[in-house]
Amino acid sequence: MFPVCRLEDLPEGEAVRIDTEPPIAVFHADGELYAIDDTCTHQDAALSQGWIENCQVECPLHGATFDLRTGHPTCPPARTPVRTHRVEVVDGVIHVLPGAPTPAVAGAVGAAGIPVAGEGGPG
Ligand code: FES
Repeated sequence: MFPVCRLEDLPEGEAVRIDTEPPIAVFHADGELYAIDDTCTHQDAALSQGWIENCQVECPLHGATFDLRTGHPTCPPARTPVRTHRVEVVDGVIHVLPGAPTPAVAGAVGAAGIPVAGEGGPG
């Protein structure tokens, strides 16, 4: 589990790259957090440097778009999906679990719809 940054340090509409191998980009879009591989599957561009709109990121090099929820390309020239990764917020800090499948429905959901762990709960 990789710590990324505090939740308040990643405003809506922004992205941050973490130097995992391969690098992962974490996006804050539409009130949710998403993590996908940072490298575009078309060539070698950093998706964290792209434009975010409607839960999609547009590659800054040739304009392919990827769905942040699924990693699937939604506009050419990219044709291969990027991997998605699970994101959790633990005590106000965003964490990425590389390779962990993205849960369809999170157990605990924060005020912005973001899965939250380690902040209260039953027990
Ligand atoms: S490198 Fe991303 S679309 Fe070409």
